[in-house]
Amino acid sequence: MAFFISSIVQITVLYFGLLITASLGKENWDTCHFGSVKCLCQKGKGQTNLLKADCSNRGLRSVPVFSSNVTWIDLSNNRIYWINNWFPSNVTYLDLSRNSLYRLYGHPFRGLYNLKTLNLERNQLNQTYFYEGFFDDLHSLTELNLKSNIPTYIPHGYLNDKEYSKLKSLQTLKMDGIGSLTFGKGFGRLEKFQKLDVSGKTGNCSFERISKDMFLYTPRLVYLDVSACNILEIEEGAFGNLKYLEHLDVSFNQHLGFWSLPNITHDLNKTSIKTFLAKGINCLAGMSGTILKHSLQYLQNTKISEINFEKNKLEHFELGLLRVLPDTLTTISMGEMELAQGIFVTDYFLFQNRQFYNISLQMRSIPYQTFDSHCKHDRYRPRMSIEYFNWLEYDNEQREASSSTFISRKKWNDQFLVTFEFPKTLNVFHGNMSRLYGDIPEFKINAPGLREIYMQDNLLYSWDGPVHGIENIEIANLSNNFCSHISKSFLEHARGLRILLMSKNNLGRSLLNDVGGEIFRNTVSLEFLDLSDNNITVLSAHMFNNMNQLRALNLRKNQLLTVNVKMKHMRNINYINLEQNRLATIESESRTLFKRLFQTSKLVIYFSENPILCSCDNIDFLEWITINRLHFQDFFHYNCSFSSSHEFNFMSVMSAKASVTSMKETCKSSIGIYMYIAIATGVLFLLSIVVGIVLVKKIKCNNRNAETSV
Ligand SMILES: *[C@@H]1O[C@H](CO)[C@@H](O)[C@H](O)[C@H]1NC(C)=O
Ligand SMILES: *[C@@H]1O[C@H](CO)[C@@H](O)[C@H](O)[C@H]1NC(C)=O
Ligand SMILES: *[C@@H]1O[C@H](CO)[C@@H](O)[C@H](O)[C@H]1NC(C)=O
Ligand SMILES: *[C@@H]1O[C@H](CO)[C@@H](O)[C@H](O)[C@H]1NC(C)=O
Ligand SMILES: *[C@@H]1O[C@H](CO)[C@@H](O)[C@H](O)[C@H]1NC(C)=O
Ligand SMILES: *[C@@H]1O[C@H](CO)[C@@H](O)[C@H](O)[C@H]1NC(C)=O
Ligand SMILES: *[C@@H]1O[C@H](CO)[C@@H](O)[C@H](O)[C@H]1NC(C)=O
Ligand SMILES: *[C@@H]1O[C@H](CO)[C@@H](O)[C@H](O)[C@H]1NC(C)=O
Ligand SMILES: *[C@@H]1O[C@H](CO)[C@@H](O)[C@H](O)[C@H]1NC(C)=O
Ligand SMILES: *[C@@H]1O[C@H](CO)[C@@H](O)[C@H](O)[C@H]1NC(C)=O
Ligand SMILES: *[C@@H]1O[C@H](CO)[C@@H](O)[C@H](O)[C@H]1NC(C)=O
Repeated sequence: MAFFISSIVQITVLYFGLLITASLGKENWDTCHFGSVKCLCQKGKGQTNLLKADCSNRGLRSVPVFSSNVTWIDLSNNRIYWINNWFPSNVTYLDLSRNSLYRLYGHPFRGLYNLKTLNLERNQLNQTYFYEGFFDDLHSLTELNLKSNIPTYIPHGYLNDKEYSKLKSLQTLKMDGIGSLTFGKGFGRLEKFQKLDVSGKTGNCSFERISKDMFLYTPRLVYLDVSACNILEIEEGAFGNLKYLEHLDVSFNQHLGFWSLPNITHDLNKTSIKTFLAKGINCLAGMSGTILKHSLQYLQNTKISEINFEKNKLEHFELGLLRVLPDTLTTISMGEMELAQGIFVTDYFLFQNRQFYNISLQMRSIPYQTFDSHCKHDRYRPRMSIEYFNWLEYDNEQREASSSTFISRKKWNDQFLVTFEFPKTLNVFHGNMSRLYGDIPEFKINAPGLREIYMQDNLLYSWDGPVHGIENIEIANLSNNFCSHISKSFLEHARGLRILLMSKNNLGRSLLNDVGGEIFRNTVSLEFLDLSDNNITVLSAHMFNNMNQLRALNLRKNQLLTVNVKMKHMRNINYINLEQNRLATIESESRTLFKRLFQTSKLVIYFSENPILCSCDNIDFLEWITINRLHFQDFFHYNCSFSSSHEFNFMSVMSAKASVTSMKETCKSSIGIYMYIAIATGVLFLLSIVVGIVLVKKIKCNNRNAETSV
């Protein structure tokens, strides 16, 4: 009994909870009744006598009787399995999605002359079984959604085009792609039919081929989505008669392969193509392909602006391929591609002599977790490797065969350098997370327009260089590359660099060896330098000598024991991050320097999580940092190291000042000095014992040796 009551209480609470949540997003909606059915209603804007009715999520099994002034009806997510009542004749919007409609007998949409949108998504309808008269009165219908209906694959489904031809105003049709999908003659009468979406991503789609006449009677299509339809074959020029076509998506038909590209793009120059999506069309395990120049030749004289080849598996990209593409192209997406050879990368540089407008290349790579979301990739392969440069060395024949001028060995200051030509208008290069692998050797780029280069999150483990032709680059991100070597000449030509991000590498050793400060000798424009998380132990005092413009310096998460870098010349510096190092103190020389900077700039130093030594030796520093605490971020959270002999309370201004005073006293007092002497004597004593033991052992050893040799 108690259980019963509590269940009822729970259900009631749940019910009201639901009601409240349902009505939360629906301000100005009031409850209304249609027969015994309670819905939410809203008065139409302007026309006060018209009603919008939301009867979704109500577990309804049949259609309520709506009053004639209702023009907008949402019956989605119920369990309606047949339409027993007619809808009011002035209804313009009808949502019956997510119900259990199986057969629609007896003209359920009769008289709906004003209906504009009809949503029948996610029911059990057999869309090849729309009997005569089904669409009779839907003259005003502009959008019809029939997605996710057929419960089973229908091999020989067909569309009753005569019936569809009655939808004179139809603009958008979303449906399942069934069996041998054909759009018969009847579709030719739909003069406004612009958008067709049969994508299997949002519904059920499976038809084997797109024949040359599939779209013969739908010549006004602007938007066509046939993605994820298990298409095996597309006949040559199948899209050629779609004069107005702007958006074509053939993605995720993984059996198509690149060898279908010539057929797909054939005659696209007769269309108005702007966006062409071919993601994941070539990703079956064991197969990979080549995109050949002639595959895309039909795009040459179009006004295409975006091509997307993401999530494909690519063995080879014919050299010069991208050169056939037109000037209007602004985005080429090659993200998450699995590439077999470095050669491919070079093709990015093929835009030579082309007026590309502000193009940015996206080479996003496959995030591991989602690696196999669509394709089965067999193994990891690096994208660009040192082999590429070797290929330039030894494979002369192939190189010559490509007869390309985008990449060559050019004479440059008495030496021959591999030279990449970028288009003048390439501003940004995104090569981050692209599985680039290898060292960076000496080469030259010719990229007058390039300003930003993102190479982070790769495996470029050694930066040798020098890289020539990078004078104009302003932003470079080289973070997280597992790099353990930067040569002294790598940045020789980076005179224009303003922002340099090198965090999460292992440059400590290279910097340690750069006593003269040569690595950054020429980076005179730097404003922001990030060297955090680099295992840096020592920085030469001259390391940043020529960085007059520097504003921010990040040295967080390193192994620094001292800060002795010269910074006097950095008049604009206002941020130095030294957190998570091994700094017990800041030496008096640097303190003087910082003090001067505090006066001229608004310098803030981040110093948390350093093992500050709180002992008599360091009292000067402790006093100094207390006085200048406003320049130290999170001062009140600083802690003394475990090896400290004294306590110092950073928690508040008062306590810090008190700590300074009390430490000064104890340290001054002779007890302190005596203790100091006592400890020193103790240490000496210990040392002498150790030395003694070692000596004794050694003598014994020698004796034994003498014995054995006898
Ligand atoms: C709509 O019609 C019903 C029944 O005819 C009536 O009760 C209701 O007041 C009308 N609503 C509006 C907003 O006119
Ligand atoms: C339907 O709309 C027409 C024209 O707007 C109007 O004359 C007619 O009264 C409406 N019918 C009902 C039942 O509200
Ligand atoms: C759908 O309708 C077609 C044509 O009437 C019929 O051949 C087919 O068997 C139907 N499929 C299902 C699953 O009912
Ligand atoms: C049809 O599509 C729905 C929703 O996309 C999906 O849940 C269902 O499994 C699909 N059915 C078949 C047979 O593919
Ligand atoms: C290209 O189309 C032709 C016919 O138009 C067809 O015979 C051929 O198989 C198609 N090729 C591919 C790879 O689909
Ligand atoms: C389309 O491109 C092909 C091959 O480049 C060419 O032969 C044909 O004349 C072009 N047609 C139009 C209409 O531009
Ligand atoms: C390039 O395009 C981006 C994004 O559309 C824009 O923010 C940037 O200013 C453009 N650069 C140039 C040089 O036109
Ligand atoms: C690459 O870097 C750019 C800029 O930092 C960023 O917007 C983009 O999301 C990055 N892409 C990946 C895949 O990390
Ligand atoms: C640089 O790369 C790192 C590592 O991926 C990233 O966290 C950071 O946001 C990037 N910064 C910029 C400005 O691109
Ligand atoms: C950090 O540098 C030190 C000395 O250069 C080296 O011994 C150590 O292995 C480095 N740590 C890492 C994680 O590379
Ligand atoms: C520093 O001291 C605070 C208390 O003042 C403490 O909460 C914090 O855990 C300490 N941090 C470290 C790294 O010891």
